[in-house]
Amino acid sequence: MIKSFLTPWGSEVLAFKSLDSTSRYLWQQALDGAPHGSVVVADHQSSGRGRRGRQWHSPTGLNLYFSVLLRPHSKLEQVPQLSLVTAAALWKALADECSGLQIKWPNDLYCQGLKMAGILSEMKPGKNEAEFVIVGIGLNVNARLSDFPPELQGQVTSLGYECDKDFDLAELLKKILQELAFFEDKFCREALSGTIMDLVNRNFFLAEKDIMIHSGGHKIACRAHAIDDSGHLLATTKDGQKMAFSAGEAWLDKGTVY
Ligand code: BTN
Repeated sequence: MIKSFLTPWGSEVLAFKSLDSTSRYLWQQALDGAPHGSVVVADHQSSGRGRRGRQWHSPTGLNLYFSVLLRPHSKLEQVPQLSLVTAAALWKALADECSGLQIKWPNDLYCQGLKMAGILSEMKPGKNEAEFVIVGIGLNVNARLSDFPPELQGQVTSLGYECDKDFDLAELLKKILQELAFFEDKFCREALSGTIMDLVNRNFFLAEKDIMIHSGGHKIACRAHAIDDSGHLLATTKDGQKMAFSAGEAWLDKGTVY
């Protein structure tokens, strides 16, 4: 089991052998008043949650499944930007280990065109600001491709597979949390500008690719360009219309990307 340690925000990581979902558990802790920067990690999740009601495959002891509680004083419309901030922090924490990492809008980490990590941000709205946000991260670390169910094969990869070595999960988690605390502090002071957006756009998986975007109940074919300082995806439709998407799910037009 991952041993507990002190997070950069100053509390002990809450580490479990198994939970249904680290995000569900932390949501309850947040309702009970847990502080900013609380972190929950589990070796295994029985009902790991993905975006859009999907399950997150969470086999025991192979990967990182963790959630971070943020009380960010962000306006409601800024909250989705925290997913990009998290993706940037993940990229920074792992880039020394693994070349070719890319960020897929709105909030995935890719390598060689395959998904290595997913981020699920869930918010409890307050009056004008978010009361809290639970950022849940699933990072495929020591799983090999045969450890994934058949329906995910060809769509996912892992850090260990890409680097051909195994990683110490606790050490990796420490490094990721350090970067996340650094980027989150930067975001609070400077919003999504400068360093964060440079990093994201320099490593943007969808840049100048033809995509299908599912947004607001519509499927739109377009060419993706970049992400702006509000976290919006800038794209041009086939008939030349310039678009800025604030939310949605994007796939490469050539086939489904998980
Ligand atoms: C996605 O669909 O890409 C987001 C997946 C997020 C999975 C992580 S694993 C840790 C945390 N707990 C959950 O139940 N989900 C998130």
